[in-house]
Amino acid sequence: MTEPPRFNSTLPVRRIRSFVRREGRLTSAQERALQTLWPRYGLPTDRPLDPGAFFPRPAPLILEIGFGNGESLVEMASRFPEFNYLGVEVHRPGVGHLLLRLAQLGLENVRVSCADAVDFLSDLAAETCQRINIFFPDPWPKKRHHKRRLIQPPFVALLASRLQPGGILHVATDWPDYAHHIQCILSQYPALQAIDPQALIPPRPLTKYEQRGRRLGHPIQDLAYRKDSSKGASAL
Ligand SMILES: C[S@@+](CC[C@H](N)C(=O)[O-])C[C@H]1O[C@@H](n2cnc3c(N)ncnc32)[C@H](O)[C@@H]1O
Repeated sequence: MTEPPRFNSTLPVRRIRSFVRREGRLTSAQERALQTLWPRYGLPTDRPLDPGAFFPRPAPLILEIGFGNGESLVEMASRFPEFNYLGVEVHRPGVGHLLLRLAQLGLENVRVSCADAVDFLSDLAAETCQRINIFFPDPWPKKRHHKRRLIQPPFVALLASRLQPGGILHVATDWPDYAHHIQCILSQYPALQAIDPQALIPPRPLTKYEQRGRRLGHPIQDLAYRKDSSKGASAL
């Protein structure tokens, strides 16, 4: 495959999506990157996805969902090269931007998927991630749009099943109402226990969306949860 797949708008099952399918403007450099760098950094189409097979060397895996322009992934992967990183994002210009940065810096510990995270996680083998990061998921502030929020009970169950025992889910938001929504949902999963997000290594880098939130005076909240390491925790 020489380019990331485009979304199939004729899917038979209508699902409420957490994003609006907007292609945005791809710069010519991003477009070239999607063609030429995808074979190097893009995930293969084999299913189920076995992350161990994607990287040059085995290492604990950190997954970032909705990485935007990918700068947070680039910063983590350069500062903490002892981990492997997987990024999943639906917005092709953001994916193109990340591919360019990976090639510029010669980073080999990052692999990229251009997909809906729900489909991606369904294809990913169980208990493979040491960490799952979701930094500033779209807040969908209007009440009638709350159903579009990415963090919903079925999605949390899917996330938990892909975390290793003892693995960590880290979510950040600048929207107090979304933080409350996330805390309420997570409180229904006793196998995911709240922990101090400040103690996480690697720490969360400043993201593009966070900078916007700070400019607007929004409070930033980090929420982190550790999956029970006892056997059977995956059943939730
Ligand atoms: C508000 S932006 C935050 C981007 C970045 N994390 C940051 O902090 O700058 C949310 C991102 O999540 C992506 N996104 C939303 N739903 C997604 C899904 N189901 N699968 C993958 N990416 C998704 C959007 O395309 C968007 O880039």
